Amino acid sequence: MATPFSEILKSYRPKFERVKILDATLREGEQTPGVSFTIDQKLEIAKKLDEMGVHMIEAGHPAVAPDVFEAVRRIAWMKKEGEIRAEVIAHSRAVKSDIDKAAETEADRIAIFYGVSDIHLRAKHRKTREEALSIIGEMVEYAKSYGVKVRFTAEDASRADLEYLEQVVKTARDAGADRVSLADTVGVLTPWTAQKFFEHMVKAVPNVEYDIHAHNDLGMALATAFGAVMGGATAVHVTVNGLGERVGIVPLQLFAVAVKVHFDVELVNLSKIMEITRLVERYSGIEVPYNMPVIGDYAFLHKAGVHVAGILADPRTYEPFPPEMIGRSRDYVIDKYTGKKAVKAKLEKLGIRVDDDTLMKILEEIKKSNLRVLTDDTLVSIAEKVTGKALRPRATENIEAIAWIKVDSNVFTSSVARKISMIDGVREIAEVTGDYDLMVKIEAPDHKVLNTILDSIRGIKGIQSTHTQIILKKMDKSTS
Ligand code: COA
Ligand code: ZN
Repeated sequence: MATPFSEILKSYRPKFERVKILDATLREGEQTPGVSFTIDQKLEIAKKLDEMGVHMIEAGHPAVAPDVFEAVRRIAWMKKEGEIRAEVIAHSRAVKSDIDKAAETEADRIAIFYGVSDIHLRAKHRKTREEALSIIGEMVEYAKSYGVKVRFTAEDASRADLEYLEQVVKTARDAGADRVSLADTVGVLTPWTAQKFFEHMVKAVPNVEYDIHAHNDLGMALATAFGAVMGGATAVHVTVNGLGERVGIVPLQLFAVAVKVHFDVELVNLSKIMEITRLVERYSGIEVPYNMPVIGDYAFLHKAGVHVAGILADPRTYEPFPPEMIGRSRDYVIDKYTGKKAVKAKLEKLGIRVDDDTLMKILEEIKKSNLRVLTDDTLVSIAEKVTGKALRPRATENIEAIAWIKVDSNVFTSSVARKISMIDGVREIAEVTGDYDLMVKIEAPDHKVLNTILDSIRGIKGIQSTHTQIILKKMDKSTS
């Protein structure tokens, strides 16, 4: 994507070409409040991540619980069996019992963390700086004695004393860690300070690879990760949908797409992005917000008349990259913010052509209607009212149907109901008890339209199954 500043970015392209993606959905992601994956779900997520091409999978902290241990062990086993290619990492505190458990899983790498800011040393570890250095050195060596690769994570590195941090990293490196993660544990770095921070560390303590682990407390995680790579970090920690402790870390999908847009480097298979988004939404029970960049429902949904007129002429006017790049498509909504070009295009899509005068009158009606969402059906009704003509493109058989819908247990029924209510042809929705959660009454002019409506319903995330019944004949009460 060309901007007047493209040249500046271009010089950093080689750094982004070689950067590795470490996905921590299974470890950091499971630290999200309310999230607990089953072992099978973890194996499925790990396989999908591997298919996408992430380089490292942080599979869990085996000492936390028996099922976490088992999941890490099985993912490490998949690696041994050649079912996945990514490096498998087991997380561990700097204590022997955690390291023993991590080693028992036979993961490729053990990642040992230790808080290195004075706040963490004092409040959490109750250790002096010197005591901490010897614990770090000893524990990295102990893990290395198992013959595995070791990463050391300097937790709260962004708030640690810089000279002390240099000693920490030297200690970990000299004890055998080939990677060191500098964690921005409370998300206080910015792109500029992250760049300076990593430039400084790479120079001060060379011969070790640096990871950036950036938390999103101030919404800066993605930008911080960019700064860190520009400064010399060679691995970025991400999670699917940005899951993680509190408000999470860098979302995998955003980092991958941003790197593609700015550097034309495809770190993972971008066509799989929506698949992994939905999978993790389902298993975590956490839906991404409508207005989440790249993966949110509204990422390519345009509204204001001026914008729609722009995208109708050339989508690049209001899109930084084409939605097709990640297998999505663009659309626009009609409401009081609409202009005549948008209405004209929408009517033409529905097979309705009107002259300019009529178009202006339809637009006036739309502006007066003040509806929050104006469906295609309402738009046709308005056009019919203005022209006084029947404009519905098809002869109506008027099929009525009832769709019974089962919603994933961990997804809010009301959110699914709200989305269904926005589909044209849906007449009524009710919550029900029994085998299904929702009953939806649908009216369609013919079977083709009915199938389209049902497809739109089935496409809504959070729906587990549907069952449709066509109403053949309405019984009059008096005939029974
Ligand atoms: N290295 C060594 N010790 C650490 C440490 C580290 N990186 N981080 C914390 N600790 C110590 C603390 O000092 C404290 O020790 P203390 O009991 O002597 O005061 C203890 O670990 C943490 O307290 P607590 O959680 O109450 O201890 P626990 O023994 O009951 O449980 C876990 C330990 C790890 C099993 C448990 O906290 C857990 O399941 N945690 C989930 C994983 C996690 O916390 N991950 C953080 C990733 S950043
Ligand atoms: Zn974290």
